[in-house]
Amino acid sequence: MHFFQYHNGRLFCEETDIAAIAQRVGTPFYLYSQRTLLRHCEHIHRAFGTLEHLTCYSVKANSNLALLHILAQEGIGADVVSGGELFRALKAGFPSEKIVYSGVGKTELEIEYALREEILLFNVESVPELETIDRIAGQMGQVAPVALRINPDIDPHTHPYIATGLQENKFGIPYSQARESFKIASEMKNLKVIGTDAHIGSQITTLEPFLESAERLAELVQTLGNEHIDIKYIDIGGGLGIRYEDETPPEPSEWAGAIAPVLAKTGCKIIFEPGRSLVGNAGILVTQVLYVKQTPRKLFVIVDAGMNDLIRPSLYGSHHQIKPVIESDSAKVQVDVVGPICESADFLATERLMPLANPGELLAVMSAGAYGFSMSSNYNSRPRCPEILVNASRFRVIRERETYQDLVRGESIEGDWISV
Ligand code: LLP
Repeated sequence: MHFFQYHNGRLFCEETDIAAIAQRVGTPFYLYSQRTLLRHCEHIHRAFGTLEHLTCYSVKANSNLALLHILAQEGIGADVVSGGELFRALKAGFPSEKIVYSGVGKTELEIEYALREEILLFNVESVPELETIDRIAGQMGQVAPVALRINPDIDPHTHPYIATGLQENKFGIPYSQARESFKIASEMKNLKVIGTDAHIGSQITTLEPFLESAERLAELVQTLGNEHIDIKYIDIGGGLGIRYEDETPPEPSEWAGAIAPVLAKTGCKIIFEPGRSLVGNAGILVTQVLYVKQTPRKLFVIVDAGMNDLIRPSLYGSHHQIKPVIESDSAKVQVDVVGPICESADFLATERLMPLANPGELLAVMSAGAYGFSMSSNYNSRPRCPEILVNASRFRVIRERETYQDLVRGESIEGDWISV
């Protein structure tokens, strides 16, 4: 069951008429379907069956508090990559023992914060980072639980900007240095080595790279066991792709079905860090057409959402389906759907064949729940748009539209000069 569907020519989110929401809140806005989110949670819960596991939602995909709260209530944990994300995760109600902290550049303050909150573990990406965590834990009289993130050098066959497990990437500890790094970590006084981790990339649509990565980790756990380093957790990262256009990514059950047997052999508890697969298809961006402009070369549909609202098409050339909120019988034409930002890369779609939309009409940019709002900015001094949550036939504003005052918060014309 798809929760964004037409009824009598009008696009609905669950049982709520999207055009009616637009009338109430204005455009542009992000719109999320609670039922879709819950259904995705259920798929993931079911995928692993009886295998001991912890799903830690990757907060970066969409960090709205209300959505985080729903996920926390579903028993899911959180994967955070900054102090800010940890703050959000705690505020939304994730128990600290279900929070893992990933990322290649944790600061001392962030490490201290996470130690104080007693999170489940740090996914550590280098020996210097191990040294820093060891030192801070020592100062705080604590023992820090750590997992080492390994870079398994596997090609995930995705956009180069979101491939993270190749030799040339900054992420993880090279596989060839893994044993040595574990040995170093296990000798540090204020660390407790309890896991290993890999995250090879995002929007991965085949099983093979996951399987290879799982095999590498399982092999490593066995080698470490022979060296008396007992690993309790294997964190397989996130990266499961979704359908934007005509991709056929594995279902969570197929994905888990493939890797679970490999991981089960290790006896470890499995951690999985999905982001996009939980929230991507639970959200859309709704925008209104401002102008239609014909030039000798192109037909531009100029809308009120831009690359500051959804940067994925500009940054990765990503495809998002664009649908009319109210179906029209206009003939299909080839258009570029562009925003108001002063950059030629400000497009939501290029050379797209779709029914010509006229000024005032609403468009739904589909599959925008992941890395949509969370990557938005105030560029061109545009207030960020609101986020709306639908549950059945009702909606709720879960983030208000920013105001002009919000834009200048913290700025000052006449601050005190400070001598150093
Ligand atoms: N774990 C780690 C350590 C990660 O770095 C990421 C994503 C995830 C989990 C979640 O991956 P997912 O399941 O969402 O694929 N902005 C890009 C995606 C960047 C992904 C960064 N890391 C996009 O819009 O496609």
